[in-house]
Amino acid sequence: MTQRPEDETSFGFRTVKAGEKAGLVRGVFDSVAGRYDVMNDLMSGGVHRIWKSVMLDRLAPQPGQLLIDVAGGTGDVARGFLQRANSRSRGGVPAQAVICDINFEMLCAGRDSAGDADPLGDQLERICGDAEMLPLAANSRDAYTIAFGIRNVTDMDAALGEAYRVLRPGGRFACLEFSHPITDGLQKIYDAYSFNVIPWLGEMVANDRESYQYLVESIRRFPSQDAFAARIRAAGFSRVAYENLTGGVAALHMGWKI
Ligand SMILES: C[S@@+](CC[C@H](N)C(=O)[O-])C[C@H]1O[C@@H](n2cnc3c(N)ncnc32)[C@H](O)[C@@H]1O
Repeated sequence: MTQRPEDETSFGFRTVKAGEKAGLVRGVFDSVAGRYDVMNDLMSGGVHRIWKSVMLDRLAPQPGQLLIDVAGGTGDVARGFLQRANSRSRGGVPAQAVICDINFEMLCAGRDSAGDADPLGDQLERICGDAEMLPLAANSRDAYTIAFGIRNVTDMDAALGEAYRVLRPGGRFACLEFSHPITDGLQKIYDAYSFNVIPWLGEMVANDRESYQYLVESIRRFPSQDAFAARIRAAGFSRVAYENLTGGVAALHMGWKI
């Protein structure tokens, strides 16, 4: 792989100054926030819900646990975590979740769709913040989740370091991200679908082809399953493992802070 100067990074297939990336990513999600949830269902045929459900199964949320869902967007992962924890509750201390996202519009879209009478409202907090500099104390969370967010972050290693910092010893890290299909046949079908259909859907449904072109390109730039697992280990996590979902179209990486 060609070495890039340290102050440069990728924004999809483009190379940009590292300092510009967060603003460009913010522009993408400002633009798609209002149609984000419907586009997610359309693009994946609803399969993203199954992937998120696998992540929550593995985490097995418990009453009283504290979650931070980073790049949480409209909040479906945090909500799923709380619903599962509540279903195990015998009336003790409820679980709590913080949704942290750099994009105010995404947080607002989630709050608007939950409505004023949100039954999970007392258990949820939304914070506008950067994965690279989380506004939370060290050793303060039982679980850290990030779904389809880390590839958008400028300095992934800084974000992984922050995940490690905010988790308490014994805390769990879970990252769900688009990844790399494990067979050539699936890769070809997936390429044809994502480079042709997704930008077209973006144009038709969200009136924004460019943002969805970026999303597809950023997926191709993401490290392989093994390379990403090595970076999670380098951040300090133990017992790091991953699970390919839908033949590697997505992967769930997990680890423990021991
Ligand atoms: C593809 S969406 C995923 C949203 C949600 N987790 C889901 O699975 O549907 C990516 C999210 O990452 C957020 N994001 C991008 N860069 C970020 C950063 N540096 N820190 C926190 N959030 C970030 C975006 O604003 C956007 O809401």
